[in-house]
Amino acid sequence: MKRNIILMGLPGAGKGTQAERITEKYAIPHVSTGDMFRQAMAEGTVLGKKAKSYMDEGSLVPDEVTNGIVKERLSQATAEEGFMLDGFPRTLNQAKALDTIMAELKTSLDAVLYIDVPAEELKKRLTGRIICRGCGSTYNVNSNPPKEEGTCDRCSGHEFYQRDDDKPEVVENRIKINIEQTEPLVKFYEEKGILKRIPGDIGIDNVFQHISQIIEE
Ligand code: AP5
Ligand code: MG
Ligand code: ZN
Repeated sequence: MKRNIILMGLPGAGKGTQAERITEKYAIPHVSTGDMFRQAMAEGTVLGKKAKSYMDEGSLVPDEVTNGIVKERLSQATAEEGFMLDGFPRTLNQAKALDTIMAELKTSLDAVLYIDVPAEELKKRLTGRIICRGCGSTYNVNSNPPKEEGTCDRCSGHEFYQRDDDKPEVVENRIKINIEQTEPLVKFYEEKGILKRIPGDIGIDNVFQHISQIIEE
């Protein structure tokens, strides 16, 4: 299904979790700037080295770097498949850059899905997140454990890790910075009339139902 959508939400709101399901059901390509930076860091590329110091402290990577990688990635997105952005834009400058990129590609946004979760909930989610080393599936020791303890539902792997930026001291800073940036962004897309608020603290399946409804509209 061809859709151009943005998944927006504070750290831990469930963007990645919902993106996994959306890709599975609707085959819309998932474009996560966080994942792109983490991959670049793992490969030790110039981009990875640039991003590392910002990510390690939970700050935002500078706009010119981030806008550049998104432009490159979206230029490869096919007109038939569309794209689902996760974690971009995160600043007003990025939102404006995205408008320019889309105008150049002669395409436009269908919807901005804002996954809304109370800030108090986020810290618990982030510090409890575990990721399968084998396939990258995300779980939560509190709210979303694997069906069988210690075994990945998807690939049956037994090794899990935590993200470096999920340490409690980094989490605080990430949440604070993102709250500051999100308010003007929400307003920007509200004024365009394409912002959809999705309640994000109602269980993963229920959140996905809301999102599916909007995608199918
Ligand atoms: P990024 O990787 O995008 O991190 P983030 O925005 O902080 O978001 P997360 O990935 O932590 O959370 P999520 O919303 O995906 O939640 P998840 O589904 O995993 O970015 C990382 C860094 O890269 C940034 O800090 C910055 O440095 C840099 N960066 C990236 N984009 C940038 C940009 N545009 N500009 C500048 N810098 C940028 O879920 C979290 C947990 O909750 C999981 O354990 C999950 O199982 C659980 N969970 C999910 N949904 C529910 C639910 N409904 N109920 C209960 N538990 C749930
Ligand atoms: Mg994520
Ligand atoms: Zn796995």
